[in-house]
Amino acid sequence: MAVNSRLPRLRDTDPAGRRRLIAEHAGLDAETLQVFDPSHGLELKQADHLIENVIGVLGVPVGVATNLTVNGRDYLVPMATEEPSVVAAASNAARMARGLGGFHTSDTGAVMIAQLQIVEVPDPEAGRLRVLEARDELLALANEQDPVLAGLGGGARELSVRTLPTRAGDQVIMHLHVDVRDAMGANAVNTMAEALAPRVAELAGGRSLLRILSNKADRRLTRVRARFDADLLGGAEVVRDIVLAGAFAEADPYRAATHNKGIMNGVSAVVLATGNDTRAVESGAHAHAARDGHYTALSRFETGPDGHLVGTLELPLAVGLVGGATRAHPVAQAAVRLLGVESAAELAGVIAAVGLAQNLAALRALAAEGIQRGHMTLHARTLAASAGATADEIGPVAARIVADRRIRAEYAEQVLAELRAAR
Ligand code: MEV
Repeated sequence: MAVNSRLPRLRDTDPAGRRRLIAEHAGLDAETLQVFDPSHGLELKQADHLIENVIGVLGVPVGVATNLTVNGRDYLVPMATEEPSVVAAASNAARMARGLGGFHTSDTGAVMIAQLQIVEVPDPEAGRLRVLEARDELLALANEQDPVLAGLGGGARELSVRTLPTRAGDQVIMHLHVDVRDAMGANAVNTMAEALAPRVAELAGGRSLLRILSNKADRRLTRVRARFDADLLGGAEVVRDIVLAGAFAEADPYRAATHNKGIMNGVSAVVLATGNDTRAVESGAHAHAARDGHYTALSRFETGPDGHLVGTLELPLAVGLVGGATRAHPVAQAAVRLLGVESAAELAGVIAAVGLAQNLAALRALAAEGIQRGHMTLHARTLAASAGATADEIGPVAARIVADRRIRAEYAEQVLAELRAAR
């Protein structure tokens, strides 16, 4: 069933009502989404199999971003984050791109890199060539390690070898390029790297040391572009100022770090919700932002010929649908089902689109009104809830503490008490 991600009434109900609405919209039975309720989520015994010395689980809110269209298809996107504004901002930015065709993605394919470090090679230049001469043998040996991956059309594709001058002498570094298909790929490439290491060390004439994937996954890039409606953004001046804000981030690493953090607010929330490795994606993103030797923005903003804002983003996205927590965590499984993605590349496209939407939303807020207004309104709702306000009381308490510009816990408590006394 084709999903329609326009769900304007979603915020007007409670979490159980939202799950029902979303299940209907996504063509899922209500049971699939029940695991999002903490009382049906990750059980302690399941957690105990995921990591060591387990003592419990941590609840992180999961919200659903609406309005997203990627490559002509609508998605309802589960986002796991503790930060207020993030889900609302992504949904809002996606709405501004929706009428102009939404988000369009492309990728380089799912090629991960394993690194093999060979040290103490007396003749590293010749050692490098000896390894390269054995290319076919090494690729075959790598592919023997994972017949399942080869059967799925993936596997080791290419290798490269270089000599690396270090302060501890020259080393020989081999990269093995592996098409990991729908996996994140760490297990597949690490197994191959370990299997190859003794032979590579023998060929190079040195000692094998590290053999591990690189999180600088620059052969697994996802790109996304979208046009954001100038009128919905607030007019030509807002478009101009967002372009200027983007240029600031391109030119200045202090701003770029914050700008990219805004992108990762969206990216990491979907990566986490789908049980993928947030640290792998984050280190890859920041390595990519520094690929030319200086740290810069991952996204670009331009004014299109029709006056609309054009946003583009490119980043490595090592995410998978098979293996790891994506398979072992019931909530992550439900998140993947809700998304309805069928391949890791499709998931990466949605994640990149959310990253760009999140980035645009932050820039618009900063350029047009300053971030604190929207942020503080949501913060006020959190304070009202913490003060004990019920669903009906949160709105009035939050509105009052915002209007009085006293967005603090004790004032939320006072306003709540006054509200109840006035009844
Ligand atoms: C806050 O989590 C993210 C922002 O700082 C991003 C940005 O400044 O672009 C608002």
